[in-house]
Amino acid sequence: MDGDSPTFGRRAVMTGLGAGAAALAAPRVAAQARATRRRRYALVGCGSRSRMFETAIWGPHRGEAELVAICDTNPGRLALAQRRAAEAGAPSPRPYLAAEFDTMLRDRRPDALIVCPPDNVHDDYVVRALDAGLDVITEKPMTTEAGKAQRILDAVRRSGRHIRVTFNYRYSPFRTQVKELLMAGEIGDVLSVDFQWLLNTVHGADYFRRWHSDKSISGGLMVHKATHHFDLVNWWLSDVPESVIATGKKEYYIPAMARRMGLSGPHQRCRTCPEKAACSFFFDLEEDAALRALYLENERYDGYHRDQCVWRESIDIEDTMNVVVGYQGGATLSYSLNAFNAWEGYRIAFNGTKGRLEHGAVEPALVAGASREQDREIVHTRIIPLRGAAREIEPRMGEGAHGGGDAVMLADLFDPDAPADPLLRAADERAGAASILVGVAANQCFRTGQPVRIADLVTGLERPDYPAMPTRQDRIPMPLRTDQV
Ligand SMILES: NC(=O)c1ccc[n+]([C@@H]2O[C@H](COP(=O)([O-])OP(=O)(O)OC[C@H]3O[C@@H](n4cnc5c(N)ncnc54)[C@H](O)[C@@H]3O)[C@@H](O)[C@H]2O)c1
Repeated sequence: MDGDSPTFGRRAVMTGLGAGAAALAAPRVAAQARATRRRRYALVGCGSRSRMFETAIWGPHRGEAELVAICDTNPGRLALAQRRAAEAGAPSPRPYLAAEFDTMLRDRRPDALIVCPPDNVHDDYVVRALDAGLDVITEKPMTTEAGKAQRILDAVRRSGRHIRVTFNYRYSPFRTQVKELLMAGEIGDVLSVDFQWLLNTVHGADYFRRWHSDKSISGGLMVHKATHHFDLVNWWLSDVPESVIATGKKEYYIPAMARRMGLSGPHQRCRTCPEKAACSFFFDLEEDAALRALYLENERYDGYHRDQCVWRESIDIEDTMNVVVGYQGGATLSYSLNAFNAWEGYRIAFNGTKGRLEHGAVEPALVAGASREQDREIVHTRIIPLRGAAREIEPRMGEGAHGGGDAVMLADLFDPDAPADPLLRAADERAGAASILVGVAANQCFRTGQPVRIADLVTGLERPDYPAMPTRQDRIPMPLRTDQV
């Protein structure tokens, strides 16, 4: 590590993994460091998601952050990232192949590593970076298995370094607003939650084409996708999961479904498919300039096909999942995730001692990595007292990807002057683990049919920092008499 590298405490990392965050602990020293030196980042995994971090570092946060190195298994995508830097007028990050990762850390001396390769290798990079004395920003899911989560928890303890897990959904203004309503006690304390997440046959189907369709890489949708949703509920409730029971199956993205639709059967990939014209799930990698540059033109280096047939026999992730989670504080969550639905988005209802909060969003059906701009969500939020008239809440809307969450989160990550956040949206390894372990437990339950206790999956997992919420002990008003409603 650099001799002048600032040191970051847990609080600092939670509010802005940057030099300014350290200012909370030692204002004068950090302010001087900030004036003289930008924070140095290395990034591993130069695919679709990495562009969000690049754009932030080369754009609004160039004054406080610099990307000094990039690392990937695919030399073509390293070269592409360098071309993007040139287009952005940014200094070229030095490229390293994955086998040169440790050399990269030694040569370039970054302060922090940004981790965005496929999910199953996150733990390896996170642990190596922590042990080399770096802080880490990792994409969700933090990792895919309980043993890997344990490695990360142990490495944090051993190294004294810090992790931010980029749960961007917490930062979407309309989801932040839901947290504020719950914290304000609008519906009292929450006893149960009903939550449905729907993926449609555009974005939802896309998971079945990519590496995500291999459970050993993504952990399946229970980990890869639902980590966002379980984290939201954990954070919305300010509570941690205790027990999980679940069922999961795949009945739509199967060879028999292709045949029911009149196809002769699944094939390997869209590009070479003999039934392109007949299949409305045909995905054209050549048509979109961004997809072509990112994946098609780099196939020759690693043989990765981003347009695999969604009807393939070998897909081992589920498309229909139902989960019941018991929380330490007593609340219960009933959750479902379905990947072949008529629309994309979610509905959630919090059932509280004073009433019910209903919230939901219809999301734009994106294809990950494509050039097309994202449309806006259609959001609703309403509060219904136990007895009395429902109240519609004007949703707080943001601009840009993930309901406006990405931009707000990036400011919190990189801005040295990010204000302290009363909602504690910055997530660390404890929240990263608390969310993936629900998915890991659900996967275990799919196999065994037996309930799983989260405490049996890892040791030494501490409760994340969450804001205070209404409690089971608070006084609550007697509901209106029925003749007053
Ligand atoms: N927070 C969000 O909303 C969000 C959205 C999209 C993706 N993600 C996460 O970002 C990560 C990357 O997803 P993506 O969509 O960019 O995938 P991608 O396939 O577009 O890119 C992955 C990149 O990692 C590289 N890679 C593969 N194996 C590697 C290894 N062993 N070492 C180093 N590099 C390796 C690939 O060559 C590729 O460049 C995933 O963890 C995903 O879950 C998060």
